[in-house]
Amino acid sequence: MAANDPIEVAVKVAKEAGELLRQGLSKTREIEYKGEVDLVTDMDRRAEELICGALMKAFPTHGIISEEGHNEKITNKTKWIVDPLDGTTNYAHGFPFFCVSIALEFEGELEVGVVYDPMRDELFTAERGKGAKLNGVSISVSSTDELTRSLLATGFPYDIRTSAENNITNFSNFAVRAQAIRRAGAAALDLCYLASSRFDGFWELKLKPWDLAAGVLILKEAGGRVSDLAGNEFSIYDGDVLASNGAIHGQMMEVLKKGRES
Ligand code: IPD
Ligand code: CA
Ligand code: CA
Repeated sequence: MAANDPIEVAVKVAKEAGELLRQGLSKTREIEYKGEVDLVTDMDRRAEELICGALMKAFPTHGIISEEGHNEKITNKTKWIVDPLDGTTNYAHGFPFFCVSIALEFEGELEVGVVYDPMRDELFTAERGKGAKLNGVSISVSSTDELTRSLLATGFPYDIRTSAENNITNFSNFAVRAQAIRRAGAAALDLCYLASSRFDGFWELKLKPWDLAAGVLILKEAGGRVSDLAGNEFSIYDGDVLASNGAIHGQMMEVLKKGRES
């Protein structure tokens, strides 16, 4: 019997979970609050069980970390990193911008990234060293080299009401430098839109590994650049991210520096 191919399995389960979410969107959802504005629905949990169950069945020796708590063998050098529903606030309001995000990490390197948007039937995929694709067609970042002509994306952390590091200063600084900014509400899709040249740059604070893992690999494989906010080496475990098409990275770093100095 042939061994399971990680990307094939990840694509299959991302599509199954995405279809579950798509069908559930118009139905009444059970909502619980994890924090004042941080919520979780019954569908996050159902999608997580579907994905994690299928991954563990196909790869019983691998580890897994998933946002809603399905964690197994987390010190394993081969580990799945899952956000069963990225864009939960959107989902809970029936705003159709959300996705499933699944990545595979081996010895600290991202090897596979799969992000599926079931509303548009858009599947973003990457394997390390093999490029990035949207529905099987190669994608690459934009060539926009001026911040003033750039469409940017960002988001705000769940502690926006209580923390001074809430991204509002950066948002106002970029608002008068970029062509426009979107806060669409799903970080994994923001990264994929950057990878496919719909956005030119993205920054956000306090994200989690499952928000970042798949999208970061897809972006890198599409020729994008990713760093911390100051341009230093990036880790999906550090939370703050500056991502771009490469050409506007320095200009975005300058704006973020201004925010740190104010
Ligand atoms: C959130 C989304 C959002 C970002 C938040 C994330 P969730 O993930 O990616 O765009 O701004 O910080 O936590 O909670 O919907 O999976
Ligand atoms: Ca998320
Ligand atoms: Ca989530």
